[in-house]
Amino acid sequence: MTTTLRDDAAPATKGQVMRSSARFYDLMVWLLTFGRERSFRERLVELARLQPGESVLDVGCGTGTLAIAAKRRVGPRGLVHGIDASPEMIARANRKAKKEGVDVTFRTAVVEALPFPDRQLDVVLSTLMLHHLPRPTREESAREIRRVLKPGGRVLAVDFGAPGRHRKGIISHLHRRGHLSLDKVVELLSASGLTVVESGAVGVRDLHFTIATAQ
Ligand SMILES: C[S@@+](CC[C@H](N)C(=O)[O-])C[C@H]1O[C@@H](n2cnc3c(N)ncnc32)[C@H](O)[C@@H]1O
Repeated sequence: MTTTLRDDAAPATKGQVMRSSARFYDLMVWLLTFGRERSFRERLVELARLQPGESVLDVGCGTGTLAIAAKRRVGPRGLVHGIDASPEMIARANRKAKKEGVDVTFRTAVVEALPFPDRQLDVVLSTLMLHHLPRPTREESAREIRRVLKPGGRVLAVDFGAPGRHRKGIISHLHRRGHLSLDKVVELLSASGLTVVESGAVGVRDLHFTIATAQ
């Protein structure tokens, strides 16, 4: 039996999917980065050490800004895909890529069941996304990320650590609930069979990064 997903249909997931809030998302990131989203995204592309010609998947890609920056880095020989469980996010990502004249394939899908064959991708990017998933879904997702990576491929995972109690403001308020500590990300990726090779602070807010490779 073939299942056809309508463009506006959201796939089932236990993750926290951003649907009606998709329209405010770019504004939220602007606030989060103090108006410096472009340099924030460039920093992430640097951390992932993207190379011309590589194939990249951005999971939970939101409005697509990082995937678009990644495509600029991998160039015409590289391929970039973005998936998100929110059709509204995917619609925005498609519009943004079209407006910027950048060729990225965006589709509605969930990270815990990636619509890609085994060992297809050089790099998976997961930014500000893992804290949207309950633990069992996170574990399934980490195994999926490992499955789609080529041997020697790598994942860059970026998420919020716990904000200090003294922090004020709307972003800190939101992330008092939405965060995942660095040691939990390291544990998650290691348990899925990936090898953690580097981790540390991104240098923006309470964000930390982890890079892990598939053997
Ligand atoms: C905070 S946003 C991060 C977006 C983007 N990665 C960024 O760096 O700006 C988290 C995204 O994860 C998506 N999401 C939640 N559960 C998901 C799932 N199971 N599979 C794919 N995406 C999911 C949400 O819809 C939302 O767009």
